[in-house]
Amino acid sequence: MMSAAGARVGRAHSSCARRPDTRPPGDLLARGMEHMGFTTVATPARRASTAAALALPLLAGCSSDAPQSWLNAQGPASRAVVELFWPITIAAIIVFIFVQGLIIYSVIKYRARPDGPEAQQFHGNLTVELGSTIITALVFIVVLAMTVNTQRVLSAPLENPKDALTIKVIGHQWWWEFQYPDDGIVTGSDMVIPIGKPIIVEITSVDVIHSFWVPMLAGKMDAIPGRNNRMYLEADREGVYSAQCAEFCGIEHALMRFDVVALAPDAYEKWRTVHKTAPAEPSTTSTDPSIVLQARGAQLFQAGACKTCHAIDGTAANGKVGPNLTYFAGRTSVAGKTLPNTVENVKAWLRNPQAIKPGSLMPNLNLKEEEVDALTAYLCRPIDPSVSTGCQVPSAAKK
Ligand code: CUA
Repeated sequence: MMSAAGARVGRAHSSCARRPDTRPPGDLLARGMEHMGFTTVATPARRASTAAALALPLLAGCSSDAPQSWLNAQGPASRAVVELFWPITIAAIIVFIFVQGLIIYSVIKYRARPDGPEAQQFHGNLTVELGSTIITALVFIVVLAMTVNTQRVLSAPLENPKDALTIKVIGHQWWWEFQYPDDGIVTGSDMVIPIGKPIIVEITSVDVIHSFWVPMLAGKMDAIPGRNNRMYLEADREGVYSAQCAEFCGIEHALMRFDVVALAPDAYEKWRTVHKTAPAEPSTTSTDPSIVLQARGAQLFQAGACKTCHAIDGTAANGKVGPNLTYFAGRTSVAGKTLPNTVENVKAWLRNPQAIKPGSLMPNLNLKEEEVDALTAYLCRPIDPSVSTGCQVPSAAKK
């Protein structure tokens, strides 16, 4: 015998079965959600907010402050890509509207009517078939020619590198290292380049696969352990170009960012000359309190855990795990471009790196406040007025 509750359930089920869902397929999502136990009412307001949510990713591309918009090309390599993108996109839109227009026209004009004639079978139409094949082939041939031309532009400096500057890029979880083989310079998170000169970037990784991407200057290139991928980029104008890792590579992938600092040729020459030689270490005999603090920081750096992971040219510190910190004071950012390079941010990082970038290889060293102050004074000391103002974003390099 069925219990009262069972009978109620049975009635509910049968009433469900009697009333089929007659909503249009557009409400499939709502049906699915109701099936999962959600209440959905497609009010006009709800429809509008859904439409807005769907449109957001498209509108995001319209921001006037988009430092990583690849459509805003600032060099020959990225311009070649944009100049290929627009004609193909516009051609695709024209073809789409033409084909959809024909379909809609045919569907409306030749739709079945109650008293209309019976549809007739017919076989082939040579003109239409040949015409559409030839037009399609022509479109593809034009696109192919443009693509080959773009590839020619992008590979020319790689095939004839004598006028180019080669920079080695190494991806680490989660920061970028830049080596200048001709000058023996090593930096982290800031890739400094001269404007108007082709740069050949040789890209690899020491751990997982990353992707090197400076949207305004070039396309993406994977950084793969054991491989050396090469690409060309170039900047037309001075500025700081925002860049980042473009392939998921672990917990801090989103904070694996960097800056390309493009300098005028003479400013770059100055930067290069300064960075080719090791900076002077703080004097250990000075009685100036600020120099005493810097010297204390230098001593802590060499005695403590810092030097096992970090290198500073001209000292015994030659760790290779973390970024080379020579001329650190002149960099734009700290912690792989997690924060701007300011004295306060360097201190916050030293106090507890894991609070700022959880998962980073830099552990919390439980430094005393006095040690934090000394290390910050050492790392942020103004070294050379032309490249560094001491852990402040250099205003000369700002856009
Ligand atoms: Cu490296 Cu994502």
